[in-house]
Amino acid sequence: MTDQPSRGQLRQVLRQARRNLTGDQQQAASQALLEQLSRQEAFVQAKRIAAYLANDGEPNLTPVINFCQQSGKAVSLPVLHPLTKKHLLFLDYTATTPMRLNRFNIAEPELVCQAIRRLDEHDVILMPLVGFDAAGNRLGMGGGFYDRTLAYHSKAAKGPTLIGVAHSCQEVEQLPVAPWDVPCDMIVTPDNIWRYE
Ligand SMILES: Nc1ncnc2c1ncn2[C@@H]1O[C@H](COP(=O)(O)OP(=O)(O)OP(=O)(O)O)[C@@H](O)[C@H]1O
Ligand SMILES: [Mg+2]
Repeated sequence: MTDQPSRGQLRQVLRQARRNLTGDQQQAASQALLEQLSRQEAFVQAKRIAAYLANDGEPNLTPVINFCQQSGKAVSLPVLHPLTKKHLLFLDYTATTPMRLNRFNIAEPELVCQAIRRLDEHDVILMPLVGFDAAGNRLGMGGGFYDRTLAYHSKAAKGPTLIGVAHSCQEVEQLPVAPWDVPCDMIVTPDNIWRYE
């Protein structure tokens, strides 16, 4: 029997790997990710994109967000759902959006009802991840937030394109997959792209 690392062990190793990247490496990754995304039809055509604000060594999407806002694409950010436990809401994000820190110390738009955007208003959802494999499986931070929020997606005929965003060092040979894990439609790293549509 092979001794495969548990999801918890994998998370620990992979999170450390991305935290070990230097500022220069992070900056180069951010720029390269924008270039990669700019070559993807789903991104180019998208009118509304959900992004995230980087935390714990995740790729910084500031150049992507700036590009979107300058080229007329609407941007949303995730906000912890105040009522439905471990679900996310997506809210409009512009240069003037008032922000607050959530319980994970991550900045999020202040919860204003008019700013809430339905999932199906998005063309692309950029998802952070801790690990991925070439089959499009995604390992997150372990809260199940994206899995719960996007659970409907695997059944929906047409929904936003789910793009996992990662550093190259987040790739593993084969992830242990759970039945509730929502796979990616696409995974993008600074130097590669995988499509599963
Ligand atoms: N659709 C769902 N309905 C109910 N519980 C769920 C669902 N999706 C995930 N969970 C629960 O959430 C927990 C964490 O899931 P998992 O380990 O896959 O998180 P993750 O994918 O790493 O995190 P995230 O989705 O926030 O990036 C699991 O214990 C699982 O039971
Ligand atoms: Mg999962």
